[in-house]
Amino acid sequence: METFECIEKRRSTRNFNDLPVEWEKVGNILRAAQLAPSSGNVQDCKFVVVTDKTKRAALANAALKQHWIAKAPVIIIVYSEPKPTQRFYGLRGEKLYTIQNSAAAIENILLAATDQGLASCWVGAFDESMVNSVTGAPDSARPQAIIPIGYSDEEPVMPKRHRLVDLVYINSWKGKIVNIDLLFDDFSEVIRKKLQEAKEAAVEKGPTVGLELADKSKAGLKKIHEKIKEKLESRKKKKEKELDEEIGGEEEVLEDTEKFD
Ligand SMILES: Cc1cc2nc3c(=O)[nH]c(=O)nc-3n(C[C@H](O)[C@H](O)[C@H](O)COP(=O)(O)O)c2cc1C
Repeated sequence: METFECIEKRRSTRNFNDLPVEWEKVGNILRAAQLAPSSGNVQDCKFVVVTDKTKRAALANAALKQHWIAKAPVIIIVYSEPKPTQRFYGLRGEKLYTIQNSAAAIENILLAATDQGLASCWVGAFDESMVNSVTGAPDSARPQAIIPIGYSDEEPVMPKRHRLVDLVYINSWKGKIVNIDLLFDDFSEVIRKKLQEAKEAAVEKGPTVGLELADKSKAGLKKIHEKIKEKLESRKKKKEKELDEEIGGEEEVLEDTEKFD
């Protein structure tokens, strides 16, 4: 699966069917966790894999009675051991890096599961000491996430996200990018917004204003189409240039070969 496709496809899933998870896949997931970045490569995470039915039920109970968790055939608990990170980086290491290190491992786990057709969920609401009493972990080890993994019994839709334009600043705090969707080539979003504006205006301010806006939108769309055309043309030219250069390179090699002959 392509990386971006995998990122888009990942969904928090809370319904699992009875199919068991292949150990090979669990191994790949753990390898992905192991490969996550960590501050100074301190690698302060540990992973407890729970398959035992009674323990899974106990973990669901520890997770503030989120009983659906127990249905997942495999549960990975991501632990951090803050001591080494604290030794290297002091308070910042203990309070921030350990959490970030485990978050990086957690996300890798979720993506590796998705990539292999598995469903998962990042569960953060739980009683830490109850989790440790299920796994037998010492107090010095801090459970950061419980991740139930299995085959999905549902197709969850993506919960709504904030608009990119409200999340991204350029160069300084609150530095808004005007027309961010246009900038990032997300033309479908631009078109959707324009149509929505026209529809809302037609309802709120009467059909005349709505129609005016719709005309404006059409003019805007024409401009966008021209922009797309320009972009495609310049991409085509760039490709042709690259191809020319490539062929040129081959000719050089041929010339060299001739010399050797
Ligand atoms: C730190 C953290 C804690 C979470 N804890 C829980 C949880 O206890 N139970 C749960 O059902 N989902 C939990 N989630 C999942 C979020 O609800 C979910 O990621 C969010 O609604 C977005 O949905 P998506 O993951 O499908 O994109 C948690 C997610 C994060 C990042």
